[in-house]
Amino acid sequence: MSFIEFKHINKKYANAERNSVTDFCLTIEEKEFIAFVGPSGCGKSTTLRMVAGFEEITSGDLYIDGKRVNEVAPKDRGIAMVFQNYALYPHMTVEKNIGYGLKNMKVPAEEIQKKVDWAIRILGLEEFRNRKPKNLSGGQRQRVALGRAIVKNQKLFLMDEPLSNLDAKLRVSMRNEISKLHRELGSTTIYVTHDQVEAMTMADRIVIMKDGVVQQAGRPMELYENPVNKFVAGFIGSPQMNFYPVTVKGNQIQFRDGNQMILPDEAAARLGGRQGEMIMGIRGEDIKLDEQNLKLYSQNRQQAVVENAEVMGNENNLYTTFGGSLTVARVSKYELKEIGDTIEFVFLPSRMHFFDKDTEERICV
Ligand SMILES: Nc1ncnc2c1ncn2[C@@H]1O[C@H](COP(=O)(O)OP(=O)(O)O)[C@@H](O)[C@H]1O
Ligand SMILES: [Mg+2]
Repeated sequence: MSFIEFKHINKKYANAERNSVTDFCLTIEEKEFIAFVGPSGCGKSTTLRMVAGFEEITSGDLYIDGKRVNEVAPKDRGIAMVFQNYALYPHMTVEKNIGYGLKNMKVPAEEIQKKVDWAIRILGLEEFRNRKPKNLSGGQRQRVALGRAIVKNQKLFLMDEPLSNLDAKLRVSMRNEISKLHRELGSTTIYVTHDQVEAMTMADRIVIMKDGVVQQAGRPMELYENPVNKFVAGFIGSPQMNFYPVTVKGNQIQFRDGNQMILPDEAAARLGGRQGEMIMGIRGEDIKLDEQNLKLYSQNRQQAVVENAEVMGNENNLYTTFGGSLTVARVSKYELKEIGDTIEFVFLPSRMHFFDKDTEERICV
């Protein structure tokens, strides 16, 4: 049996008209770092809170470490939690804040000290151990909250948007710290976030949800390269994948603005002979402007005028209107263009995605 098993879990709040979580099925192995990601309101926190035992499970079974825990009290589930709005005790020092939970659990003072010292060391809080929260930065406070959770030495870590209140730079460094901590402690972790970058950079596996329903679970690059539907394709990755309503007719892809492409053999193979209206998708970095690709796929060269350019140096986005849709091509600093320039480009055949126009499911045979 896996470390955690969600078996057909449903949640309907008493006052709600419909489920907040529907038929959630998932297994999590020991030591895995799992991210639940999805837009606000998709049921991430509700699912996490059912694992913690703070919300009742309407139906289905939840197993932790081989034991059915539906009716087990939160304190007996072997979990530690970190939330977005972690409240530190303002009158206590860093050291006292970290040890407080253990004191409550009646752990002997000597052992508390040992664990607190360990957490302080691991989190790099040595020089702040006697400070009160008001004299700490946001990132330091967040580390104290992490410290409070790790000293409990629980087998399961639950984190709900723990970095949302931090500024962008701090989020990046805390992302690294949490990943490092996970590698060191090896505790199974479920991490809730609405931020696909956090999910992509931190998780072993991502579970992406929409309207209470799991859309896809898999390794970050699996979701990125092989999204099962248009929602996943659009949610993972920034800038978003480009989408085009197209008609496939014979070996032609016809765009709404009258542009055409020859359907490449490898894309045709994936479509398995399917014709007619569908949605095509391509990521910005799979639109190629370099000589080599232009030559290789010369029969499919397209043109468009640059309407806007986001130049960041390492990442550069050229915006055009193509195929009736706003299109973003990601180019290297060597391929930069000016607004008003005409660019020539090709779509990498192996990276074309096709989705059913009604169900928005991936078309793949
Ligand atoms: N206590 C509650 N009572 C009724 N509905 C709730 C409650 N908590 C959350 N919900 C609803 O359940 C859905 C999922 O919420 P939540 O799990 O908080 O989403 P997320 O964490 O993904 O933003 C939302 O539609 C939300 O309004
Ligand atoms: Mg939430």
